[in-house]
Amino acid sequence: MTRVSTVGELTASIAHEVNQPLAAVVTNGEACLRWMRRPVPDMDEAEKSVTRMITNARRASEVIGRLRALVRREEPARLPVDVADLVEDSVALLEWELASHGVALVLALAPGLPAIRGDRVQLQQVLINLALNAIQAMDAAAPEARILTIRTDLGANPEGRVEIAIVVEDTGPGAEPDTLPTLFTPFVSTKKDGLGIGLSISRSIVEAHGGGIQASPADTGGLRFTFTLPAAGETPPDRFKEPMS
Ligand SMILES: Nc1ncnc2c1ncn2[C@@H]1O[C@H](COP(=O)(O)OP(=O)(O)OP(=O)(O)O)[C@@H](O)[C@H]1O
Ligand SMILES: [Mg+2]
Repeated sequence: MTRVSTVGELTASIAHEVNQPLAAVVTNGEACLRWMRRPVPDMDEAEKSVTRMITNARRASEVIGRLRALVRREEPARLPVDVADLVEDSVALLEWELASHGVALVLALAPGLPAIRGDRVQLQQVLINLALNAIQAMDAAAPEARILTIRTDLGANPEGRVEIAIVVEDTGPGAEPDTLPTLFTPFVSTKKDGLGIGLSISRSIVEAHGGGIQASPADTGGLRFTFTLPAAGETPPDRFKEPMS
């Protein structure tokens, strides 16, 4: 969702990326009412729900802000982003989803990674899309076996430029190896109400940041998505590509 070329793609992006935080606002609003309507209202829990509502509403508005910038053809933000902060902020937005699907989270964040350069809101979208897919895939797994792992690591691309790898891995049913590359194709979905565009949006964002994304089988039998981004200072401006055009 960087440079969107058609109204259809723009509409699909809004439908996909804004629906999730709005759904979270509704769920947390309902939870808040339940905490307040108890015989002895639990104001601590009510406050947490309201805080989550605000965070998610703010996020919906940030995503809309990015879409407005796209339509106005503004230059995308390319600011230093700390990778650990990126992961932690994204995870904070998924707290509710993790809890309600009974998924345990394992974070393995390499210390002292160099920053990357990019758009924080868009990169969060990538992590959230991958994590939501993982959480949804693990609905099929036994409750005690639902583990979402997010790892970060330092690496180098084939030209020797320093890059950061972010890995999102689940313990779900995985996918047939020959279908893996097709998962990124727009409108490919195996879900009843899936749009099938989360991965294609994520790929465009990553490629617009000069990186790449791929799916592979995880050792647990689930799926592993790895995306790489050049470390800040390693990216000549001409490496930024215009996706979806
Ligand atoms: N972690 C995963 N485990 C197993 N299959 C996956 C996983 N992530 C993605 N897939 C497969 O890839 C397909 C495409 O994913 P994508 O996120 O693009 O669309 P979707 O989740 O179906 O719908 P939406 O547009 O609402 O995200 C999914 O329908 C699913 O079949
Ligand atoms: Mg999805």
